[in-house]
Amino acid sequence: MKNDLFYNIDLNRVPSHIAIIMDGNGRWAKNKFLPRAAGHKAGVETIRKVLKECKRLNVKYVTLYAFSTENWKRPKAEVDTLMNLLSTYLKNEVKTLHEENVKLNAIGNIDELPSKCVEELKKGIELTKNNTGCNLNLALNYGGRMDIKNAVIDIIKDVKDGKINIDEINENTISNHLSTKSIPDPDLVIRTSGEERLSNFLLWEVAYSEFYFTNIHWPDFDEKELQKAIYTYQSRDRRFGGIK
Ligand code: FPP
Repeated sequence: MKNDLFYNIDLNRVPSHIAIIMDGNGRWAKNKFLPRAAGHKAGVETIRKVLKECKRLNVKYVTLYAFSTENWKRPKAEVDTLMNLLSTYLKNEVKTLHEENVKLNAIGNIDELPSKCVEELKKGIELTKNNTGCNLNLALNYGGRMDIKNAVIDIIKDVKDGKINIDEINENTISNHLSTKSIPDPDLVIRTSGEERLSNFLLWEVAYSEFYFTNIHWPDFDEKELQKAIYTYQSRDRRFGGIK
């Protein structure tokens, strides 16, 4: 395996959870005088490549920001393209994911997605629920602020119902009411395409994540770029607010 690496990665210190903001599909397409849909289609190919590499490197959790609560603002034709790509991806890929022991999960307001996406997602999650390999977590119709707001409402309900006492509420209470409650916080957040912002992604969970930004558009991101991100991550000194 060492010989197959583009960068001198320490395979014992690979991030356990990588979260990715897959940006730049539109710009990639524009640069090639192609419709934006072609960029998203190429972006799906990158998902396949990157996921395969994550599995090979033994990354336990991969979260992909595939559709935000704000992405509904895009023209209907583009939203339809993204939803079609999602349902086709799931239809074609779930069997392979299952064979590769990948466990599929989704965060976000899934029930508001088109029914064909909801059906494929639910089928995929059910089929793969006992798998123990890589966890693929798709953020769909997801927003970090929405997730925190929902957690606050649920905690208030629990207090009202006498299930928790106000004095007992701590940071774990909040983590345990988020849609990511079963997933460790991301070690590494990658954003492609030159933008350096979070765009409402995993706001609570990234408190101590390392960030990696690259100018490369998502369709051009590949195994080598992923390794570069991991290599950079491994060169950082994570202190979690303490000192060494
Ligand atoms: C950002 O590019 C990308 C998205 C908003 C969606 C990402 C979705 C996919 C790659 C495909 C569908 C998902 C799955 C899981 C199969 P952009 O359109 O914001 O690019 P731009 O900033 O250059 O315009």
